[in-house]
Amino acid sequence: MLDFQFYSPTEFVFGKDTESRAGYYVRKYGGSKVLLHYGGNSAKKSGLLDRVKDSLSAEGIDFIELGGVQPNPRDTLVYEGIELCRREGIDFLLAVGGGSVIDSAKAIALGVPYDGDFWDFYSTEKRPAAALPVATVLTIAAAGSEGSGDSVITRTDGGFKRGAGSDLIRPKFSILNPALTCTLPAYQTACGATDIMAHVFERYFTNTPEVEITDRLCEAVLMTMVKETPRVIADPGNYDARANIMWAGMVAHNNIVGVGREQDWNSHGIEHELSALYDCAHGAGLAVIMPAWMEFVYKHNPMRFAQMAVRVFGCSMDFAHPENTALEGIRRFRQFLHSIGMPVNFAELGAREEDIPALVEKFGIGDGRTGGFVKLSAADITEIYRIAAHASLS
Ligand code: NZQ
Ligand code: ZN
Repeated sequence: MLDFQFYSPTEFVFGKDTESRAGYYVRKYGGSKVLLHYGGNSAKKSGLLDRVKDSLSAEGIDFIELGGVQPNPRDTLVYEGIELCRREGIDFLLAVGGGSVIDSAKAIALGVPYDGDFWDFYSTEKRPAAALPVATVLTIAAAGSEGSGDSVITRTDGGFKRGAGSDLIRPKFSILNPALTCTLPAYQTACGATDIMAHVFERYFTNTPEVEITDRLCEAVLMTMVKETPRVIADPGNYDARANIMWAGMVAHNNIVGVGREQDWNSHGIEHELSALYDCAHGAGLAVIMPAWMEFVYKHNPMRFAQMAVRVFGCSMDFAHPENTALEGIRRFRQFLHSIGMPVNFAELGAREEDIPALVEKFGIGDGRTGGFVKLSAADITEIYRIAAHASLS
């Protein structure tokens, strides 16, 4: 196991009706004037936004609103938010929504105290020195942004999707009420489930030996997702299954399952170019890319893939030919994603094979190599897009 530091300071408030305590927690973490940030219509339609506002008002906390965050959140609204916060003297950001809303709030939080362009933190190695405090009321189990120090934003000019990371933007508190996720369409539920599994796989496929505890934690999250996702697709109002998935989404990405081990993250980088170009859901892009990446790299360590196949997908071990077990595990993963309504290939995602050179160009590694488990070149990434373009269930 590698040496590590683990810092996850977020207070998680989990359970029914917990959004009614938003005001109390904003006060606890020092907020006096709040920017209430949200997405399209879902939080308004469900009445959630009104309940959060009531909770803020009950604590006598002043707030203003900025809605309209789109999935794959854009820099344009971030700039608007930064100006608004400065003008209004905002000292606390409360994101009510999913990963897109939370990431937009985190970007605003980084931008307000910074003299330059907030995009510096996403496009260069520059690290932030300060940020406004951020907190969340989560409405979809997916990105894990409720417990992570990451934010992913799309630059409208040029369509670049890039991430920034800092402990400064780890949420002060996150309110997780599984009942809020019962209004999710099946497709969004499945996209979220795919993203959660991908966050685990990015950590599971490692070259670090002797990481039994994190291997087993990873497998527990993956097995939970395999069990619970079909239950909520069949029965969207199943609170207990929603609750297990919601906590799995947090555990998958606050890095407790990834400490002490080298991680990969190429599938995420390769996917981000798809959601930047086609504005598809991140999880749907991952459903197409992650199995393709697995097929491209499994020979690097067939036993690790066989371990996943046996422990997570219940495959029987072919001791003479572990590659066969590895391939069977990948096949079952793709089959599982299909069974929950995820796309299998480019055509089902709405992507085009002729765009592959442009996708690789925007990925932007030139002659270099990237990734933890297997270091990929531009030619390797081209091949992974090709596998994803033509993938099938056979
Ligand atoms: O905008 P509204 O109307 O709220 O609709 C949203 C949106 O259309 C809807 N939705 C959310 N909660 C709902 C609901 N609809 C009905 N009932 C509810 N309770 O779902 C749609 C998707 O929302 P979004 O926030 O985009 O989903 P997600 O949480 O998957 O976030 C995706 C974004 O997070 C980034 C992705 O790249 C993508 O931009 N990621 C962020 C990470 C992080 N910060 O740590 C890590 C991830 O790997 C990921 O890259
Ligand atoms: Zn993700």
